[in-house]
Amino acid sequence: MTRTLITGGAGFIGGHVTRRLLDRGESVVALDDLSTGSRENVPADGENPRFRLVVGDVRDRRLVDELVQDCDVVIHLAARIGLKLVIESPLKTMEVNADGTESVLAAASRYGKRTLIASTSEVYGLATKIPSSESDPISFGSPEKGRWSYACSKVFDEFYALALHRERGLRATVVRLFNTVGPKQSAHYGMVIPRFVRQALAGEPLTVYGDGTQTRSFCYVGDVIDGLMEIVARDESVGKVYNIGNPSEIAIVDLAKRVIELTGSDSPIEYVPFDVAFNAGFEEIRRRVPDISRARHDLGFNPTTTLDVVLKDVIESVRAPQPVAR
Ligand SMILES: NC(=O)c1ccc[n+]([C@@H]2O[C@H](COP(=O)([O-])OP(=O)(O)OC[C@H]3O[C@@H](n4cnc5c(N)ncnc54)[C@H](O)[C@@H]3O)[C@@H](O)[C@H]2O)c1
Repeated sequence: MTRTLITGGAGFIGGHVTRRLLDRGESVVALDDLSTGSRENVPADGENPRFRLVVGDVRDRRLVDELVQDCDVVIHLAARIGLKLVIESPLKTMEVNADGTESVLAAASRYGKRTLIASTSEVYGLATKIPSSESDPISFGSPEKGRWSYACSKVFDEFYALALHRERGLRATVVRLFNTVGPKQSAHYGMVIPRFVRQALAGEPLTVYGDGTQTRSFCYVGDVIDGLMEIVARDESVGKVYNIGNPSEIAIVDLAKRVIELTGSDSPIEYVPFDVAFNAGFEEIRRRVPDISRARHDLGFNPTTTLDVVLKDVIESVRAPQPVAR
């Protein structure tokens, strides 16, 4: 039975990965400090003998060493994420995302564990080539803007993972996740779909930042996990970087309109200037679209879930919270 250590296992994506692995009969240890994650995303204590939640910090090297030594596969998802939190404290972002990843990768390298680390489409930063491919140059903004601390920390993680692969043989893969959505995603720290759904269901205005013509590509969390499972299963993915996302693009104002339609809400749309929504640490990105040809070719990755299906699923889960993962 494969034993997987999932850092950030009680988070949005981590909880879904946990459930997928447990459903396959595998064993999971989730390491999470519950800063943005929740016990509700994973089985309760004693509920599943193949699952254990360890509440702790990925920067705790002794704890990480012990947990990594004891597993077969490491899926590293723990991070400080979400525009609001990142802009609020670039320092914490760098500490958790760079130092925390260094702690996990060093242990994985020490014990020769198969490792997947989560990076982000943010690393494409201000790049104007759309769609973005893994081998494109990356160009994010000035360190004077706190938002780029997230991209910068994740670029550090990528370099470190790939360097450990090349120079010390670590079997690591880097996954650049684009906007991932689905039930159980927190609305609290800047994620647009859960925020719109909650606003619409509460009859409050849907707050669209800027003029709403900026676009994003949203990928269903179930499709993302299909991609992650293929990566871990395939040796040929070792030492590579993969974009995992859905190339379909939608303007944020159209997303707001669609949420209003699907919830049957009579909420209005309220436009909020970026400098009111965020402080000076913000800088807007107009478009973000993944080129997923590498993942399609190597992994057979084929995200098929439409945005409407995702939105209905999220609306349903906010109306009637889902039972916890078993
Ligand atoms: N959701 C997305 O759209 C998206 C997009 C790009 C990349 N990612 C990446 O995917 C990963 C998972 O993101 P998510 O959406 O599930 O976010 P999330 O906030 O739900 O999950 C992150 C988890 O890490 C935990 N954590 C944070 N700091 C920690 C620490 N110091 N020690 C231990 N645990 C800690 C949090 O409590 C949380 O459970 C992150 O690495 C993120 O950068 C997500």
